[in-house]
Amino acid sequence: MLKRAIEGNNFENQEMKIVVQFVVVIVVGLISSCTTSVKKTEAFDSGKKLAYCVEKTKASMSMLSFADSLPRNILQGQTAWNKVGIHDWCSGFWPGILWYAYEASGDSAILENARNFTEPLKGVLDVPVDNHDLGFMLYCSFGNGYRLTNDSAYHDFLLVAADSLATLYNPKVGTILSWPAMREKMGWPHNTIIDNMINLELLFWAAKNGGSHDLYDMAVKHAKTCMTTLVRPDYSIYHVAVFDTIDGHFIKGVTHQGYSDSSMWARGQGWGIYGYTMCYRETGKEEFLTMAEKLSDKFLERLPEDGIPYWDFDDPVILNSPKDASSAAVAASGMLELSTYMKDETLKAKYKDAAVALLECLSTNDYLSNDKNEAFLLHSTGHYPDGNEIDASIIYADYYYLEALLRLKKYYQE
Ligand code: GLY
Repeated sequence: MLKRAIEGNNFENQEMKIVVQFVVVIVVGLISSCTTSVKKTEAFDSGKKLAYCVEKTKASMSMLSFADSLPRNILQGQTAWNKVGIHDWCSGFWPGILWYAYEASGDSAILENARNFTEPLKGVLDVPVDNHDLGFMLYCSFGNGYRLTNDSAYHDFLLVAADSLATLYNPKVGTILSWPAMREKMGWPHNTIIDNMINLELLFWAAKNGGSHDLYDMAVKHAKTCMTTLVRPDYSIYHVAVFDTIDGHFIKGVTHQGYSDSSMWARGQGWGIYGYTMCYRETGKEEFLTMAEKLSDKFLERLPEDGIPYWDFDDPVILNSPKDASSAAVAASGMLELSTYMKDETLKAKYKDAAVALLECLSTNDYLSNDKNEAFLLHSTGHYPDGNEIDASIIYADYYYLEALLRLKKYYQE
């Protein structure tokens, strides 16, 4: 109404018009609860949300046995976790959630469960390495476990895990091979996906905890190669980069889980933000920091009205598309860390506020599962083109949501 009044040209003077326009801006700002813009976030109660996650973790814990029962997803119409074994790429997230929930609560029963659910993942290395996901599987579990307990057995196992991951590195290309099976299946001689950025953290960790310095060099080279291949000139990201194995050149960028080869798959953009921020932390290289900023800006610039991405930013039927809460959780966690590296106070506030805005949106009743199912969050999309995990609760959304809440507490509220 105010807007219509302004447009109606019925003001006696320009000053009055300016005052009313100012009021409109304030009112619109106050009533939009979940917008994409940077906003003040003092009211967000992360402690309450952490308590929610701890309580839900305990409830899930009581429903699980230790053997072969790692939560992965809850599909539409279901209320309980579908579980997977240790060789699934998502196996590390439940132990990781337990470690974070222990960190948040100090609860000894959660600690015991964290240990018990981490231990079986040692079996991951009993079979030949056939994908890049070792970082997700073993750093989220053993990595968090070592950080919180200093257990030397975890330390030693992580070093072996890093060496195993490094066997997928191709020096000719300068990246880790993500999916060996896709060489033949898809005709992708050497393929590297943006998700692989997260696995570099295991290599960086190993290089500074007794492993070879070569692991650091591989991680740096991988990150640099992906900046000029997986990342497009406009800072959106391909899901998959395909390389030649004879001379290592970049052949093409394609998709696997996105809408199209040229589209912006939401979680991929999140992996990029998170991955390059982590690479800056581990190397101090400004080019990684700049990359993380550009990728974040692209993500923020394209967020829809309610602040949570659809599964792919370029799906043409976007308003009817499923959301991907996991991409928001990953990006929020990455941007919270990114904000801490900004020397300029305005930029620090920009990324912190954007991250908190994402967490606020995820923390509304639209996205929290509350008592609808055993997960923390609803509305993630795993693999839309395959028809898998569409508009579902998925374990990695919960993991990065909890991680982001803890980061917020650690960086800004302690
Ligand atoms: N790493 C696979 C995914 O993000 O779905």
